[in-house]
Amino acid sequence: MNKKIGVKILGTGSYFPEKILTNSDLEKIVDTSDEWISTRTGIKERRISKKNEPTSELAFKASIEALKAANISPEQIDLILVATITPDMLFPSTACFLQKKLKLISVPAFDLSAACSGFIYGISTAKAFIESGLYKTILLIGAEELSKITDWTDRNTCVLFGDGAGAMVLSASQENDDVLSVFLGADGSYSDLLFLPAGGTVCPVTESTVNEKLHTIKMQGKEVFRAAVPKMVLAAEKALELSCKKLKDIKLFIPHQANMRIIEAVAKKMGISMDRVFVNIYKTGNISSATTITALDEAIKTGKLQKGDIVELVAFGGGFTWGATVIRI
Ligand SMILES: CC(C)(COP(=O)(O)OP(=O)(O)OC[C@H]1O[C@@H](n2cnc3c(N)ncnc32)[C@H](O)[C@@H]1OP(=O)(O)O)[C@@H](O)C(=O)NCCC(=O)NCCS
Repeated sequence: MNKKIGVKILGTGSYFPEKILTNSDLEKIVDTSDEWISTRTGIKERRISKKNEPTSELAFKASIEALKAANISPEQIDLILVATITPDMLFPSTACFLQKKLKLISVPAFDLSAACSGFIYGISTAKAFIESGLYKTILLIGAEELSKITDWTDRNTCVLFGDGAGAMVLSASQENDDVLSVFLGADGSYSDLLFLPAGGTVCPVTESTVNEKLHTIKMQGKEVFRAAVPKMVLAAEKALELSCKKLKDIKLFIPHQANMRIIEAVAKKMGISMDRVFVNIYKTGNISSATTITALDEAIKTGKLQKGDIVELVAFGGGFTWGATVIRI
């Protein structure tokens, strides 16, 4: 009988645009204050991409780092998967633009849309492809430029989001099985609480959709907050159960970086002390599908995680979607 194919995590990488937008910069744009943003969200600053720097460019720079960390040549990649809700264009996919930049012509490439849970959905997809034997080495990216779909006159949303990209290389292995579990969920009945109304087939681009700023993020913050905490707890507990690990086995808990108060509420409900929870929201803001992977990469680079440590990633986002994964790095 053939041995089950395992998944090995070979390496991670990340990239943030150079420009930093601080809370005091925002005080000059909308009626807000560093004090309000810091106490309500935990965010102090976020990165903003340049006009001529599309999502695929951030994805490319993060990918180069991940390939280096994985110690493989790009030619070994046989599938490119980009989780994003801020693609370069509606089509072709950002994954195709990235494939061109990586000069990996012919390698299959596609985007995955699951908002802030995108990277966890991506891990699940990569795991299934590898275990099925269809692909051996997958480049998985979470990349976003939320600054380009933000209404910079709306203080309710513009203080929350930022830009960045993270990448991971996963490959088939006979010895390792680093993705111990994944749990995913979604509830489309909440689609109108966090969404981008225009630009799709429901509301194609017209002069009035532009004038009414319908190409920017709309959100009912309180309702999103209320749903996020229980769903993240549920996902984290389910993934833990599926992994056959206990809370004490998790070296670091990496939640989606949307709001410090959400992170603290989830940790409290799960009985995890904050010193075991990774937080970098203060310098990134919410970068949707890129949050968990960039946080994981930072935790590895700063020595908070060592080879063999077990980590849990958990996310929640528009859709609503949610998901968690227990992995060994
Ligand atoms: C957005 C969020 C920070 C708002 O916090 P809140 O405590 O719910 O605040 P409210 O929406 O009740 O607003 C309270 C007041 O602050 C004001 N306010 C909103 N944004 C502000 C800002 N940037 N600066 C100053 N005041 C602001 C509101 O207008 C409101 O004023 P009012 O009472 O005069 O009407 C919070 O709801 C949140 O984080 N939700 C989750 C969002 C999220 O994570 N989304 C992504 C999920 S993936």
